[in-house]
Formats: sequence, structure tokens, C-alpha cells
Amino acid sequence: METIQSQVDELISQMTPAEKAGQLTQYFYFRLPPGAEPGLDFDAEQQPRMVESAVGEGGAGSLLFVTDPAEINRLQRLALEGNRLGIPLLFGFDVIHGLRTILPVPIAMAASWDPQTIERGQSVAAREARAVGIHWTFAPMVDIARDPRWGRIVEGAGEDPYLGAAVAVAQVRGFQGGELGSPESVIAGPKHFAGYGGALGGRDYDEVNLSDSELWNVYFPPFKAAVDAGAGNVMTAYMGLNGIPAGGNRWLFTEVLRELWGFKGFVVSDANVVRSLVTHGFAADLTDAAARAVNAGVDMEMAVSDAAYAHLPEALESGAASPEAVDASVRRVLEAKIRMGLFDAPYVDEDRAREVLADPAHRDVARIAAERSAVLLRNEDDLLPLDASSVSSIAVIGPLADSKRDTIGPWVFDFDLDETVTVLEGIRAKAGDGVRVDHARGIRVVQREFPSMFDMFGRNRPSDPDGFDEEAEFQQAVDLARGSDVAVVVVGEWQNMIGEAASRSSLELPGRQLELLQAVVETGTPVVLLVMNGRPLDLRWAAAHVPAILDIWYPGTHGGAAVANLLFGEVAPGGKLPFSWPRTVGQVPMVYAHARSHEPENQGRRYWDEASTPLFPFGYGLSYGRFEYANLSVDQPATTSGGTVTVSVEVTNAGDREADEVVQLYLGQRYGSALRPVRELKGFQRISLSPGESRTLEFRVGPNERRYWNAAVRDWVSDPSTFDVWVGGDSTAELATSFEVTQE
Ligand code: GLC
Repeated sequence: METIQSQVDELISQMTPAEKAGQLTQYFYFRLPPGAEPGLDFDAEQQPRMVESAVGEGGAGSLLFVTDPAEINRLQRLALEGNRLGIPLLFGFDVIHGLRTILPVPIAMAASWDPQTIERGQSVAAREARAVGIHWTFAPMVDIARDPRWGRIVEGAGEDPYLGAAVAVAQVRGFQGGELGSPESVIAGPKHFAGYGGALGGRDYDEVNLSDSELWNVYFPPFKAAVDAGAGNVMTAYMGLNGIPAGGNRWLFTEVLRELWGFKGFVVSDANVVRSLVTHGFAADLTDAAARAVNAGVDMEMAVSDAAYAHLPEALESGAASPEAVDASVRRVLEAKIRMGLFDAPYVDEDRAREVLADPAHRDVARIAAERSAVLLRNEDDLLPLDASSVSSIAVIGPLADSKRDTIGPWVFDFDLDETVTVLEGIRAKAGDGVRVDHARGIRVVQREFPSMFDMFGRNRPSDPDGFDEEAEFQQAVDLARGSDVAVVVVGEWQNMIGEAASRSSLELPGRQLELLQAVVETGTPVVLLVMNGRPLDLRWAAAHVPAILDIWYPGTHGGAAVANLLFGEVAPGGKLPFSWPRTVGQVPMVYAHARSHEPENQGRRYWDEASTPLFPFGYGLSYGRFEYANLSVDQPATTSGGTVTVSVEVTNAGDREADEVVQLYLGQRYGSALRPVRELKGFQRISLSPGESRTLEFRVGPNERRYWNAAVRDWVSDPSTFDVWVGGDSTAELATSFEVTQE
């Protein structure tokens, strides 16, 4: 029986250097709408032609940005008939939070603190992707983000390595299914290795300088978890990490990823990252760039055009590129194609693709994910849930309330806006005929100062209706609110303001949204504020003046239906914040897991002009229920450095309705061989409790939860010490106990 190994050996033994270079080259394949202005610097006419000829002569091993099954089959045929050895193409794509059925954005799914929901959502995304012929997704994005000016915070799981690792594992499992290559699953490609979220000033693509302690204790853990979960691919970051560009960083991709972590999959560069080694001032020219990237362990180059890896034959000839490195890269790419069954079944069933994309069950999964991602930030006097029987008129206000495109958020391309349910549509459908639900935009949309790279795909920029008269509209919105029983105001960022190349220098609500909100509150009509966002925004005024605030994120295809179910109490919000929510951008970076420093009692007053505490803490989220915690205990007062204690706690739903709570466990080491954070998340469980129901939960706290990478000894250590344990509903939990760890 031919093994994968022998099949690969056979192929490699026949391949020329040019054919090997081809297998290691992945091209974007852009068929832009007529007249579209490319967001990147390439010739929109010439580029697809160049790619097709490369495909037809074995000059490309993979393509991205093709999602139409017929087109995928056409290009696959071109490849199979074109290259001498009949090696099929691998199709990759950014299926970040859904392909046709759009899930809530990843930061929203992280806010669910519900690995099962996340896994289920990404398994739907994988099913749709594979059905159209995509074999590999450039996800999960697992970059820790501690600076919300950085727009890509929306794509990840926030500031915390423990939550980030749990979310990464759930996504890899969702995408890849039980094992790599199973039908209806795709290769998961955690990205961007590594440290991308630490961009200087929150400016996307800019340099990153992180200490080893930050790398090993904060930024690496989600990647390690994704690799341990069996991810088949890893994507490089763009930027220099401590002066070494990711694309040429042998320490990252060979020493850490492969030799230390045992990663067996293949590495792809981010877009043009190999050629960027020249731009960055690291490589002398494209041949040098190609040699240094492949020698570093970057198997495949993602390029728009003029690929550096096309110069690999030259680099091999000169001895600059290691033949062993090149063959090892080709091996890993061919193994992925064999594992995905592409040699046996390279084509996709176009009829079945249509069926799978139209599966209504997928929309339900997306709606439930949106319901479980929402975070209730304020609910004074229990204004929520609304009682449809006592409300006869609802004013829905703001342009985002009825924007299909913004409801599904950034990083989506193959969506169906006709399927998308906006907040306004969701409220109208839920409130029923007896309730008047009117909408007023109130203000103009806000255009980005700089064009977005995604404008070239169309439908990316917001717009105002023709003849929009802002003063009249503003007054109309206020009058509508005044004449209604309740006003639902939707504020946030337009989806093209966040994501890649979308950093901001401010966290303020863009445009005249705050002014509109203040004018609506001024009418005296009770206001429910819905926040459509992917990063924390400056809500200081709202947090002091608006009774109910619900963060709905970009909730996806059926997001409006989910929001309506939450507003009317069909379901109770149970989400928790995956980041610390700063009061103002001047506090950034702000994290809960900070070290104990001088005068800790003044930790909250480090600035003279603003508190230095967050507006809302990491892990925070209210519910329609009320939860009480009691009987926190450890099963033993002390253990040795290799031992494990079991922490138990009783949680009670003291409210009058079924509700979810995310029970969080934080650990703090009082002393040891390095300064440790005042507390760190080391366990969580999302539970549903009926009114009056109590449940005792257990958490195991062992060496893995206690160890950390120590900058003095430059290795992992587990100190003997006294450990504090806090358990509660957010990172300010006060219910505490402790235990000792003695030297073994
Ligand atoms: C982009 C992003 C990366 C994405 C890739 C392909 O520039 O950095 O996350 O997967 O290119 O679209």
C-alpha cells in the first residue's frame, strides 16, 4: 500500500527546481468587478492572466480569493492538465467568520466564552468552504491584542492568553473536524506568527518589540494551543519582531514552531511577506529574500505577483537556498494535498455546493452564536428585557441599525445581503404588528479618512441615501424618540473602520453619533443603546447616562434576529468582555493581568486627569439573572510543585429567569522568582441555571496553571509560593481562597 511518504518521495524525486518553486508559490487570483480600483498595487487586468499562465505551467501550487465552485474547477483543470506531474492546486481563503453564512466577528465569538458555540460555528464555516472547493482557511487569527487602536483586534480573541488559547482550540476543532482531511472540513491556519498585535502605537503593520516574557507568557500560548490541537498550517506575521522580520525568522519557524513545538504542518507567508524582506531592508533582492525565507522554514509564499519564490531555482543554483530546506517545504505542501484527498478527488460538486450554502440550519447556528456573544454592559432598573405587551412604539435610531453590510462586519466576501437581518428588521419581526417600529438614521455615515484595501471588492463603503438632509434627519430622529415608548439607538464603527489596515488614533464614537445619542436621551424617552463594534469605544458618557447598554458586536447574517431575541428576553445575554474596556484611548494599553507595582493602593489613580481603571473590566458582562457565589474552597491547603488542587465553588441563580453565567477562576502568586501579574485567568465554565438553581463547579489548578516563563533563568519555572484564588463573574472577583505550594 503506497504511503503518503512514498507518494511524496516519488513526486519529489521527479521534480525540477522550477516545479518545486511552483509548488511553494501561492497567488491571489483576483477577478475584480469591472472598473474596481485595486486596493493593492497591481494591474487588475494583467494579474489574473499572469496567474492563469503560471497555473497552466506548474508555476503555482495554490491560489487564494477564488470562492466560486465552477471557477475553482476550471482553474484546477488548468493546473492538472498543465503541470507535468498532475499535482493539484490547494485553494485557501479567509473564511474568518463564515463564508456565505456569516457568523458574529471572532472577537464577538470570543465574548461568548463558549468553546462549543465557537466550534459549532466554525464547523459550519468549514462545511460551506469545503463545499465550494476551498481546502484551507487562513484562520483562526490568534494574535493577542492589547491595544484597541489596532483594527485587527476584531479578528482575534482579545487580551488574554488563557481565553485566547481556549478559543483557538475551539476554532481549529471546528475547521478541521476530528482529523485533518475529513470531508466537510478544511485545514486551519492559525495566524499571524508571531506578536502582530503588539504593533507600535497600535499601527497595523508597524514593528513589534516584545520581551521574551511577553512572548512566552502572553503572545505564544494561543499559537501553541492551536498547534497542539493539530492545526495543519501556520501563517507568518508581516512585521519585524524584535528586529527580525517574520518572513525570515528562523528562530520562530524552525526553532520554536517545529523543533520545540513539533509542528508537522506547513507554513505560508502572509501576503507579499517574502518580497517584503527587501522592503524591510533585510534581504538584498528577491533571490536573497527567497533563500532566507525558505531556509527560515517559510514553506509557501503568498504573493500578488512577481513572486520571490520564482527565484528559488537561482538561489538553489548559487547555494544560497538549502536544497534540504526546499525539499522539506515541498514535502509538507504535498503531504497536505494528499491528506486533503486532492490527488484522488481534485474537483468539487457544483450542485452540492449550492445546496450546502443554502442550508437554513447554518443561519440558526449563526443566530445562536450572536445571541451567546452579546455582552450586557448596563441595565439600570432592569429596563431590559423589553415587555412587548407594554410597549406600543419603538424608535430605532442610527444608520447602523438598518445597514445589512455593517451587520455582518469586516472580512467577509461571499455573503448574501438578501439573507442578512438588520437590527431594525429583527425588532420589527419580533415586536409584532401591534407595535409601531420606526427608523430614523439621524446622521450621515462616516467615511474613513483613508481608503480601505477592501474597497476594491465593492459594497465595502457606507453611504447616505440620495438627498440626505442631516439637520432634518437629526430633528426627525429626536422627534421620533420623543414620541415613542422606548428608543433603541445603535452606535459603533462602520465595518470598514476596523480590521486590516484600519487602526485608529481615537476610540471616540465616529461622526455625530454621541451628539445624536445625547439628543435622544434628552427627550426623556427610555433609551437602550446597542453597540456595533469590534474594539472598545469611548462610552464614558453613555455609561453615566444611558440606562441599558448591550454590546451586539457585528452579529452576522441573522444578527438582527438575535438582537431582537435578546431585547425581548427570548434569550438572556450571557457574554463577557474578552478585553479590558478603557475609558479613553489615553489609558492604552490597559490590561487586567498587570504586575503589582509601587503603591498598589493607588493603582486606580495613576493619571491626574482620569481614573486608571477600565470603564468595564475584562470578563465583565451582566445578565437578566443575578448570580451569587458561595462556598469557595480548595480540596487541600497545600500541595507540592508537581501537585494539583481542586477548587470548588457554588453558584446560584438568584434571579427569576433562566440565564447563563461564565464562572471565571483567577490565580495570583504572592511571591517567587519573578514578578507575576496580580491575577490571571486560569479557568472558566459557562453554565445555564434555572431560577433558584445552585450548582457546584470544580476547577483543577495544577503545574500547567502555575508555571510561567521566567526572564531571569530564561525557562519555564513553577515557584513554591502562596497562591490566591478568586472566582466570580469577571476579573474583579472578590470571593477568594488560597493554598500553598511547597518545593517537591
Ligand atoms: C492579508 C492578511 C491575512 C490574510 C491574507 C490573505 O493581508 O494579513 O490575515 O489571510 O492577507 O487575504
